[in-house]
Amino acid sequence: MSFRIRRQEAREPGPPRFDSYRVSAAPNERILDCLNRIRWDQDPTLAYRMSCAHGVCGSDAMRINGVCALACQKLAKDYAGTEILLEPLPGFAVQKDLMVDLQPFFDKVSFIKPYLQAMTVPPSGRERTQSAEDQKVLDKALRCILCACCVASCPVYEEDHAFLGPASLVWAFRFLFDTRDEARMERLVQLNSPKAAWGCRNHFNCTRVCPKEIPVTRSINMIKREIQKYFEEGKGQELK
Ligand code: SF4
Ligand code: F3S
Ligand code: FES
Repeated sequence: MSFRIRRQEAREPGPPRFDSYRVSAAPNERILDCLNRIRWDQDPTLAYRMSCAHGVCGSDAMRINGVCALACQKLAKDYAGTEILLEPLPGFAVQKDLMVDLQPFFDKVSFIKPYLQAMTVPPSGRERTQSAEDQKVLDKALRCILCACCVASCPVYEEDHAFLGPASLVWAFRFLFDTRDEARMERLVQLNSPKAAWGCRNHFNCTRVCPKEIPVTRSINMIKREIQKYFEEGKGQELK
């Protein structure tokens, strides 16, 4: 397999360089296996993140031949006969080579308060329960591993980094539609903004690249409908 990898030191000004490598890989080995081989056997200065190697931690997101994806989910055989171009996720500051600073991404997720807000003590005095049917609504959104592939692929985010972005909106969806959450009104008011739900222009890139196959665009559109319902019922003050 032939690789061309974008190399950059955050501390060094100037354009990045592209280094070429060749490694042997069995068809079912992953791009992450190839990267490890390059780093272990050829170039210990190559920087990238990885942890689980099984599509769970979200840390090895990068751009592979122009498409944001997890290196541990892509197989060598899918790129047979081509040179593979590896680049860091776009839209984030490069720390080194394929590593980017994801702090702004995590700050945006934190902004939507990605946790259950419920003060009422349940009648049983024990845990807050939820029907299987209610939980099913959240099922797919619960798969998010915060890899940032969706945000890095969104044209709206590319133009305007103040846009909350698809991952935060998936987390907003996850709590807005959680029947146990009691901050519904605050969440709808927060999401009713051109920088939040209304910033999404249905480009669908987020849905296409999501490694956990979350229907991201659909979730955002469900938030929009909820906002409309809420404000049309006269409970809010403004719409868009
Ligand atoms: Fe990654 Fe999908 Fe979550 Fe976006 S929604 S951060 S692409 S898992
Ligand atoms: Fe961006 Fe996804 Fe909407 S790519 S514009 S958040 S559908
Ligand atoms: Fe954890 Fe790829 S290394 S998702």
